[in-house]
Amino acid sequence: MKEHAFFLSLGFTADQTKLIQEARQYIVIFEQIEEQAANYNAQTSPEVIRQFNNQVYQAAASIWAFKRKVLGLILSCKIISNNMPLLVDHISREAAYFAKRLKELNEGKLKPLPEAIIKENVFFLRIMADHSKFIGHLLDPSERKLVEQARDFSHDFDQLLFQAQDLDSMRPQSETVPLLEQFLDQNRVSVVSLRDFKKTARELIEACKIKSTIHPLLADHVYREADHFLHIIDAFDEHLVALQS
Ligand SMILES: [Fe+2]
Ligand SMILES: [Fe+2]
Repeated sequence: MKEHAFFLSLGFTADQTKLIQEARQYIVIFEQIEEQAANYNAQTSPEVIRQFNNQVYQAAASIWAFKRKVLGLILSCKIISNNMPLLVDHISREAAYFAKRLKELNEGKLKPLPEAIIKENVFFLRIMADHSKFIGHLLDPSERKLVEQARDFSHDFDQLLFQAQDLDSMRPQSETVPLLEQFLDQNRVSVVSLRDFKKTARELIEACKIKSTIHPLLADHVYREADHFLHIIDAFDEHLVALQS
């Protein structure tokens, strides 16, 4: 969320001082939250964590509203922004996801495993498809090979997303473990290769070896999100294995 606020602040034009100011306030807010989180560990009492979750929830809900406001300003052409509308929508979806997770944690709610697996994949496959599109559009058009690779990833993840949505409406039960395993395996293959592509892109951008308008921190940000998705896939896979034994 802190980095989103930073990306937003960079995307406004120099005369949009109020919006830049507002975005920068969120950098400070999430920096403080990050520092506070570092003070907590497994020994921290559940009540303290519950309160902290509440506080972070408020901040996440607030930055979500800011992102939606910015998106509205862009879509109604009230402002010109260097951040693409889909990117602003994307980071607002991530804020909504984060806020929802915090709420679920505090309520101690757990979805049935098949539903959790499919819903989480539907969310992250779209995130990965978006990232591929952003990379493809923010690379310099003269980087033809890389733009082409990004476009292939975009197509691949769009297809995986449709598959996940198809599976979602079929509502598989816990007895359909092999089906869910295959679903996770297929997604993992694509996420691993996208993660490696992002890692290479990040290194090339940091070393100033390719032409783009991608900030090095944005390259790192999307890489970490792919890596995070992989961890989620692996965790679900372990749950499925445990179910069968
Ligand atoms: Fe993000
Ligand atoms: Fe993202």
